[in-house]
Amino acid sequence: MMDEDGYLTINIKDRKPALNAVNSAPSSSWRVMALALLILCMGMAIGLVTLGILSVTQQNLQKAENGNLSETLNQLAKYFCQDLIKQSEQKGIHNHQCSPCDTNWRYYGNSCYGFFKHNLTWDESKQYCSEMKAKLVKIASQEILKYIKGRTGLIRWVGLSRQNSDGVWMWEDGSVFSKNMITLSGDARENMNCAYFYNGKIVPSSCESKQYLMCERKAGVAKVAELLQQEN
Ligand SMILES: *[C@@H]1O[C@H](CO)[C@@H](O)[C@H](O)[C@H]1NC(C)=O
Ligand SMILES: *[C@@H]1O[C@H](CO)[C@@H](O)[C@H](O)[C@H]1NC(C)=O
Repeated sequence: MMDEDGYLTINIKDRKPALNAVNSAPSSSWRVMALALLILCMGMAIGLVTLGILSVTQQNLQKAENGNLSETLNQLAKYFCQDLIKQSEQKGIHNHQCSPCDTNWRYYGNSCYGFFKHNLTWDESKQYCSEMKAKLVKIASQEILKYIKGRTGLIRWVGLSRQNSDGVWMWEDGSVFSKNMITLSGDARENMNCAYFYNGKIVPSSCESKQYLMCERKAGVAKVAELLQQEN
């Protein structure tokens, strides 16, 4: 009995740590499982985020490629049209689909130019162009100067003015007039704060004098689809 009792006691005493061990065994395996789950979840989360980033990047790439493709096509269409217009003007052909400008507007470079015979003050001229979603002409290069000179022999307002006799001459878009490019002919006296173009020169004048005018706006894009239709 005693032995048995002792045995039992010992047994129980032995079991106690054993029980504790059994108790702690599941808790540590839970921890391992929880940890594994956590790692799994984190792995999945990272995977999802990575997938997301990849797909967004891919979409952007796709977008960029598509953007470049249509941009390239439009660029091609533009060159094609510029060439076609040049050729057809020489040959007197007008029935092509390349019409980046409205009727009565002339296509040159990236712009459409409108030459109007209305006697208007500089401000009225500016307003007149603006109503047609255009601006008074800006002569920004020797090529444009040459083109305009060849197009018109009349006095016409351009988009050049200054605030007062001490001010700098500026184009309508706010860029400063470069004297290296075109000469500002004559003496710009007081109250001569607007400029017209005549015979290859920019001439300061009173803003209130009434002159003809020329407007400019960005040329439209020749549509590739329309060009292709023409082929059929
Ligand atoms: C695509 O267009 C972007 C922005 O317009 C430009 O930076 C990039 O170089 C172009 N890629 C190609 C292949 O033309
Ligand atoms: C503009 O004014 C000039 C000079 O005053 C005149 O000769 C010309 O006929 C006028 N043009 C128009 C379209 O009214």
